[in-house]
Amino acid sequence: MFNFFKRKKKDPLGELKTILGGYELPSFSTTVINVLNKLRDPESSMGEIVSLIELDPGMTVKILRLVNSVGFGLTSKTGNLQHAIALMGRSRLEPLVLSFGVSDSLPSTMECMERGLFWATSARRACLARIIGRHLHAASQADCFTVGLLMDMAIPILDHIHRGEYGEVLARWHADDESQLTDMELEVFGYDHAAIGGLMAEAWGLPEYIVHSIAAHHMYDPDSQAEPAVQLVSRLKYLDRENGLEKLAETAQLEYAIERPLIEEMINQSFTYAEQFTGFFR
Ligand SMILES: [Fe+2]
Repeated sequence: MFNFFKRKKKDPLGELKTILGGYELPSFSTTVINVLNKLRDPESSMGEIVSLIELDPGMTVKILRLVNSVGFGLTSKTGNLQHAIALMGRSRLEPLVLSFGVSDSLPSTMECMERGLFWATSARRACLARIIGRHLHAASQADCFTVGLLMDMAIPILDHIHRGEYGEVLARWHADDESQLTDMELEVFGYDHAAIGGLMAEAWGLPEYIVHSIAAHHMYDPDSQAEPAVQLVSRLKYLDRENGLEKLAETAQLEYAIERPLIEEMINQSFTYAEQFTGFFR
């Protein structure tokens, strides 16, 4: 059984290849790598970032479409990328560029669910994790958004490798409110999507906090390296919306004293906000 937190060597690409039977994790495009480096460099200017993004017409169009969507509340539409990015701000741009790189590096089709549903759920988790994060521990809200968006990024790969079989495991998780997806995956495959996601994040050079949070997103204990907001949104399911939300709301109330009306308001607000991401991911 593979345990992310008990690894001795740190060779994420090699480990992924061995565990996943020869699977080669694709690299991000040069544009995505360059944009991410510029975003993390406090010395870089907005103009430099814009010039790099403009090299990727697909990314440019999607950023403009996102900023022009209802959620940003512009009174008139903008076709100017610099203006769009200034409105969005660096902290909101980074996870989007990151997820752009991730979605481009994942298999283009999924068998266990519609790819659109996978990303719509990821966007809902990200938006909800940010709102809960802001309530519980304001400093962590931007990281909660990133982890919420990327926590399950190993699922399309596991679905691709274990055609049919992975979908069966996922369906069993949806059918049983008390079951843990990671336990089921460990039993069937010897590893789970959280640990594989952690290795992917490490291989792509993401900050250590994000790597550990992704690897621990289903570890529901006080010592978990994932924020409470991240642990909470990981309970959101794909195919069984009500069931996942009920468990999430119940846990939020019992373990984090977030009363039912408040968590329901957070869910409604974040799901509405997440709708603007429809079509952002490929
Ligand atoms: Fe997960």
